[in-house]
Amino acid sequence: MRQKNTLDYKRRLHETEVFTVKKKILIAGAGGIGRKHVEGFLRTGSFSVSICDTDFVKTDKIKADYPVEDIFNDFNSINLNDFEAVLISTPANYHVPMASLCAVRGVPFLLEKPLSLNMDGVDVLVNAVKKNNVKCAAGFTRRSIPSFVKLRELLGEKKVMPKTAVFSGGGDYRKYRPDYRKIYFARKSMGGGCILDSVSHVVDLAQWYLGKPADGYCLYDNLIFGDTVETEDCAVISARFGGALVSISNNVFQKPYTFFMEFIGEKGNMRYVMDGRRKAAITFSGDDSGKWEELACFENEIPDFYVNQAKNFLNLLEGKRNTMTTIEEAAQNLEFLLRVKKKG
Ligand SMILES: NC(=O)c1ccc[n+]([C@@H]2O[C@H](COP(=O)([O-])OP(=O)(O)OC[C@H]3O[C@@H](n4cnc5c(N)ncnc54)[C@H](O)[C@@H]3O)[C@@H](O)[C@H]2O)c1
Repeated sequence: MRQKNTLDYKRRLHETEVFTVKKKILIAGAGGIGRKHVEGFLRTGSFSVSICDTDFVKTDKIKADYPVEDIFNDFNSINLNDFEAVLISTPANYHVPMASLCAVRGVPFLLEKPLSLNMDGVDVLVNAVKKNNVKCAAGFTRRSIPSFVKLRELLGEKKVMPKTAVFSGGGDYRKYRPDYRKIYFARKSMGGGCILDSVSHVVDLAQWYLGKPADGYCLYDNLIFGDTVETEDCAVISARFGGALVSISNNVFQKPYTFFMEFIGEKGNMRYVMDGRRKAAITFSGDDSGKWEELACFENEIPDFYVNQAKNFLNLLEGKRNTMTTIEEAAQNLEFLLRVKKKG
């Protein structure tokens, strides 16, 4: 399997443009998602990548598969100012302490979601970012993906001005992460469960398309995974984002992978439908004829999720237009989820 991944990576790397001056990025946490970030940043052709993980097996594995620069096993002993950016892809309980070190030292960073497990230290982090004028973002991947960016443009072009919206979907997490019982996902103390995991992505999109989260209610349960995990495997949320009333339904056990969004305004409804992992379509209907006009269609975006995010983050670093989630938005997302979860 490793050889196949490496060959795929080499083929994709070959397809990218190669730049001469590369920015140095340190990727902290070389687990499931850290590995994808290593590949994504290398594929841009604009970064040289170093990695840090407390697990020597993980760092050795990445070193064998990718042309990484330096390998570290203790984050606190690294001179972060040797890097032009740090990517934090450790479990969520490490996010705020690691990001705070970057912020205090004035080093740009990209932080995996969710921002944290609680609000401890979040204000201090946000203030340090502002005070030191640190370029940073949270890695809610979909904001970097063409179909999700297009949907935002089309909502504006068609003047949908949503008043209500529905977000539903899920997939079988056990299939994508067969080690799910052993990783952060199974543990409350590490940010597991679908609310801080997959629902946080949906909340990020609702914030982006509709506005700031306000009041809300949540029901959640562990209906399928049982005691293999300490955390919930499904959630339903009713909430207000901006001026719109929103319904979110998400689970991590359903067999087909689906993601559905519908935005309902006075001039018509816009839908984003992803059935399976290969195709996403955006459709619009402005009357009750039953006909939906296809406005855009996207094929096979998932293999490029992380290279697209890396390019978007590069734009942020270079002061160019980008669509990354700000640290303030990530803090609002977390505060909202913790608040509605407490009521559930
Ligand atoms: N953007 C997405 O779609 C997406 C998808 C999956 C996971 N994530 C997020 O990415 C983060 C990591 O998830 P994962 O699936 O890679 O988990 P993982 O358990 O596979 O990997 C985490 C890695 O961090 C390492 N680590 C732990 N403490 C460390 C420390 N102090 N210093 C350096 N390394 C340390 C672990 O050894 C492990 O290799 C989580 O916050 C998760 O929510 C995001």
